Amino acid sequence: MTSNGRLVAIVGSVVHSVAFGTLELITNGAVCHRNGIITAVFDLDKQPDAIGNVDEIIDHKGKLIMPGFIDAHCHAPQYAFTGTGMDLPLLEWLNKYTFPIESKFKDEVYARYAYDKAVRRHLKSGTTFCAYYGTIDLEASKVLAETVLTLGQRAFVGKVNMDRNSPDFYVEETSKGCDDAEAFARHVLGMTPSGKDFMSGVDRDSEATVEGMQAAGVATSAGFEKRPTLLNKADSPLVLPILTPRFVPTCTAEMMHRLGFISYKYGLPVQSHLSESIAEIAWVKDLHPDCSTYAEVYNSCNLLHSSTIMGHCCFSNAEERSLLHRKNATVVHCASSNFNLCSGVMDVRLFMADGIRVGLGTDVAGGHSASMLDCMRQSLVASRVVGFDQRGKDESSKTVSIHKTPVEYPPMSYMEMFHLATVGSAEALGMGDVVGNFKVGKVMDCLVVDTDCKDSPIDVFDHEGMIEKFQKFLFLGDDRNIQSIYVHGNKVNP
Ligand code: GUN
Ligand code: FE
Repeated sequence: MTSNGRLVAIVGSVVHSVAFGTLELITNGAVCHRNGIITAVFDLDKQPDAIGNVDEIIDHKGKLIMPGFIDAHCHAPQYAFTGTGMDLPLLEWLNKYTFPIESKFKDEVYARYAYDKAVRRHLKSGTTFCAYYGTIDLEASKVLAETVLTLGQRAFVGKVNMDRNSPDFYVEETSKGCDDAEAFARHVLGMTPSGKDFMSGVDRDSEATVEGMQAAGVATSAGFEKRPTLLNKADSPLVLPILTPRFVPTCTAEMMHRLGFISYKYGLPVQSHLSESIAEIAWVKDLHPDCSTYAEVYNSCNLLHSSTIMGHCCFSNAEERSLLHRKNATVVHCASSNFNLCSGVMDVRLFMADGIRVGLGTDVAGGHSASMLDCMRQSLVASRVVGFDQRGKDESSKTVSIHKTPVEYPPMSYMEMFHLATVGSAEALGMGDVVGNFKVGKVMDCLVVDTDCKDSPIDVFDHEGMIEKFQKFLFLGDDRNIQSIYVHGNKVNP
């Protein structure tokens, strides 16, 4: 750590979300941290002497200090073709564009080159914490995890699993795929001292067996909830592994069961895709006629628990949402991708009314931009599209949540969307006590934003203050405005 136990104050206009739709803006503020852990937030107009005795002051007066963005769903290898191939729906898009590119990552030289570009781009765009999908290749996925750690980004990194309905050039044998998934998790844990310690604990733990899982009742998700985990702790490793069965159509039940066990054994999160497009849902129904919902397929394989993160959910019905709610699983809204692939639109307000945690994801390369700024803007449009459908409905035909409460559809505000891109995504990734805003005890992952920088895409006028600068950054800004990026208190240089 660069701060070496010293107390550091970052001074500027502090802005963060303290609740859904509620910002705190301290025009002349300071966020203090020691070893990357936030110790205090001050309003220097009210307490001018508050930072008198810190070891170091980093002065960004006149600039915005905000939490880094959190991308809760993104495919690192797909960065190689972002912005192209938007002419097909999901299943055709996967076959024509995605699988051929992802298969190229078995070439480690290519993987190193392309992952370096991808991670730098995400970080440069202000994403301090990212949930990445890699490819099915073990060695390439290790390269991704190492690249992320070297560049200093916080991340969940997943080796993708797929053992059926995949092209011959991009498929794994069930047993090898599962062994590789565990080998990958162990490799990533082994990259850091705290991960290594944790793994030794798992290796000594007599309950970390299939029998232990069955005895703990993981089928009710209770088993997972009792496992030791590295999640949601401020001193956890920067990079953690995440189990990543691509989606039901490309994973056999046997493979998913085995991944469910690895998740239980190491207390690891799971990410996948759910109810993204109509054709995909029909395919899942064909493959698993006994399961009444798509989510039930994951559940029947012990993959649905409080650290399960499901992307998309454009078409989750009440039964599916009830299951997600019971399991305390979370969802990620990927608006840009849903528009580009003509999939549909997720009803964010409905999921929130259900009590299901919601985050935002770029879903590069279904989503064409690595920037969470773009993701927020597309999500704002999506919320209006959903709202339009609700206009003119009488009381009896209003949408109701799984708790039978009517759902209101005011257009999403920029404050609500900023909350989802920071605190919401943090909670969806099960890291709500660690990142998302500047609450004391969380980590110092932040951006320093200058709306007046050279070549700024933003013009600021005399009548405008910090709150207008903040809004203009969200709607008009880009990486040129992001002057500095700190992850765990350390400045990173993408
Ligand atoms: N479903 C399965 N794989 C993918 C993917 O790579 N992107 C998207 N958007 N959906 C998927
Ligand atoms: Fe995706």
